[in-house]
Amino acid sequence: MNENSLCSDEIQKVLKYKKMPIYIFDSIDSTNDEAKRRDYSDTEYALFVSDTQTAGRGRLGRSFFSPAKTGLYMSIVFKTNIFALNNPMLITLKAALAVSKVLTSLSGLKFGIKWVNDIYLGNKKVCGILAEGLYNKKDGCIDAAVVGIGINITTSDYPYDIKMKAGSLDYFIDRNILAAEIVNELLPMYENIEDISFLDEYRKNCIVIGKNVSFEHGRELMYGKAVDIADNGGLVVETSDNIKHVIIAGNIEMNF
Ligand code: BTN
Repeated sequence: MNENSLCSDEIQKVLKYKKMPIYIFDSIDSTNDEAKRRDYSDTEYALFVSDTQTAGRGRLGRSFFSPAKTGLYMSIVFKTNIFALNNPMLITLKAALAVSKVLTSLSGLKFGIKWVNDIYLGNKKVCGILAEGLYNKKDGCIDAAVVGIGINITTSDYPYDIKMKAGSLDYFIDRNILAAEIVNELLPMYENIEDISFLDEYRKNCIVIGKNVSFEHGRELMYGKAVDIADNGGLVVETSDNIKHVIIAGNIEMNF
C-alpha cells in the first residue's frame, strides 16, 4: 500500500501557522541538511517534507532508512532563544511527546517513548527524531533549531542492521494531515520552551522508566535502573551502589 502524495496545499489547509513556508521534495539527501542550507532572515519558522531521502541521518552518526511512499520525513525549523540552546534535550523530548500524541490521536494506537527520541509501537521503533542547532547566515551564531522527524508508516524490507528493531505503524495515516498536526502540536510547545510542565506526561509515556538499562559512561558500559527524567531532560539511572547518574548524551539499551 502506497501512502498519499505530499501536497503543500493539503498541509496548509490543516496548518495553524499560515505564514509558515512549506518546502516539499520528491527526493532530497536529508530534510535536516536542506533546512541547514537555507536562510531564515525573513521567517520565524519553516517546514521541509520529502517523499524519500537519499542520505537520511539519525542520532550518533547513524543513517535513517527513508524509502519512497512509505514514511513521513520532515524537518521543522524555528527560531529560538539561549535557554533552548542551553537545554537542547528539551527540544527533543518535546518533539517525542508531541509526535506520539498526534500519532495516537490520528490512529488510536498507543505509543511509548524510549528516552530520548525514539517512538515505539510495541517493541518496534516506528519513529526517530534528530534535533540540531542552525547557524545564522549573517553572524554565524546559532539562533534557530531544526527538528527532523522520521516516521515509518508502511515501511517494510528494512536493512539487515535494523531489521530486528524497526517497525511501522501499518495503519493508513494521511501524510499531509500528519505533518500539519505535528507542527500544530509542537510549535506552541517551542514558543514556551522554558515551560517544563510537559515532563510529567513525558514520564508517563516513557517506556524506559522502571526498566534495567545499560549506558555508556566514558568508555565503560554500565548497568542500572532508570528511575526518572530530570528537569533538564536527562535520564536518571540508579546503579547498584545507590548512585544516581543523570545521563544527557549517548545511547541506552533497555534490558527487558
Ligand atoms: C534517529 O532515529 O536517530 C533519528 C532519526 C531522524 C530521522 C529524520 S527523517 C527527517 C530528518 N532528516 C534526516 O536526515 N533525519 C531526520
